[in-house]
Amino acid sequence: MENIKPKVAIIGTGNIGGAIARGLAQGTIIEASDITCSDHSQHLLDKLKAFNAGIEISVDNVKAVREADIVIIAVKPWVVKGVIDEVKTALDYERQIVVSIAAGVTFEQLLSYLARPSGFNRTTPPVFRVIPNTAIEVLSSMTFISACNASKEQTDLILRIFNELGNALLVDERLMMAGTALASSGIAFALRYIRAAIEGGVELGFYPNEAQEIVVHTVKGAVDLLLKNKSNPEQEIDRVTTPGGITIRGLNEMELSGFTSSVIRGLKASR
Ligand SMILES: NC(=O)c1ccc[n+]([C@@H]2O[C@H](COP(=O)([O-])OP(=O)(O)OC[C@H]3O[C@@H](n4cnc5c(N)ncnc54)[C@H](OP(=O)(O)O)[C@@H]3O)[C@@H](O)[C@H]2O)c1
Repeated sequence: MENIKPKVAIIGTGNIGGAIARGLAQGTIIEASDITCSDHSQHLLDKLKAFNAGIEISVDNVKAVREADIVIIAVKPWVVKGVIDEVKTALDYERQIVVSIAAGVTFEQLLSYLARPSGFNRTTPPVFRVIPNTAIEVLSSMTFISACNASKEQTDLILRIFNELGNALLVDERLMMAGTALASSGIAFALRYIRAAIEGGVELGFYPNEAQEIVVHTVKGAVDLLLKNKSNPEQEIDRVTTPGGITIRGLNEMELSGFTSSVIRGLKASR
């Protein structure tokens, strides 16, 4: 499948479906004109068209999936069954791959929604569960992928597509919820640290816009150090903490207020 440009349908173009469409349209694996987006909110579809006029839009889910090789379902978890019921008879399980973005909807549920009577050659299609985060829009998502009924070729294709939109990791389904907490909700957690640091920066005497610029570049620097040096956070922290110095005093004060345990408790609560 290396040289084949697949056609993609995205059903549901809200926060994440819209972000996927924008991300895919900027990548090299799928042509913008091979992306069809379907939603019942016309204004969301119009925004996608304004972003890239090549993207096809439709309010008809069945029409949207017909030509697609990959059908991405990006609606709220409780809407997934209704969407599958609507498009199921239009799907070709021999040819098409179904990708569910819905957090918490398991393969067992997806296969039961998709199941066809035994008269068909294939009673269920290849299915992937994909959990990206909103940074997919800027090609910087940490994305978890789990495969069911899929060939190696199909799995490689899905990995290739999402690796182009950031970093993709193939995991067992049992790790999808943990991945969702760490990377998908994780975007909100990281941003909450950034917001807290900005507020602290204002208290220290900077204007909010200055504080934001300082904090964002400081966090980017910390991430770049880890990525470039392939080090772990504690090694980089040791390089900043002079014995008896101000950094260790600040860190210890944060820990006294429960910094690490707050983060771990928050992650465990969002599984
Ligand atoms: N947000 C994230 O960071 C994130 C990350 C990973 C996974 N997810 C998963 O992604 C899925 C979508 O989340 P979201 O935050 O993007 O939700 P969202 O912003 O509400 O987007 C869903 C879109 O689907 C539309 N829709 C609803 N029913 C439809 C139907 N039958 N046919 C076509 N379109 C329909 C909705 O329109 P209306 O609003 O008019 O109903 C809405 O525009 C969820 O299952 C979530 O678990 C989200």
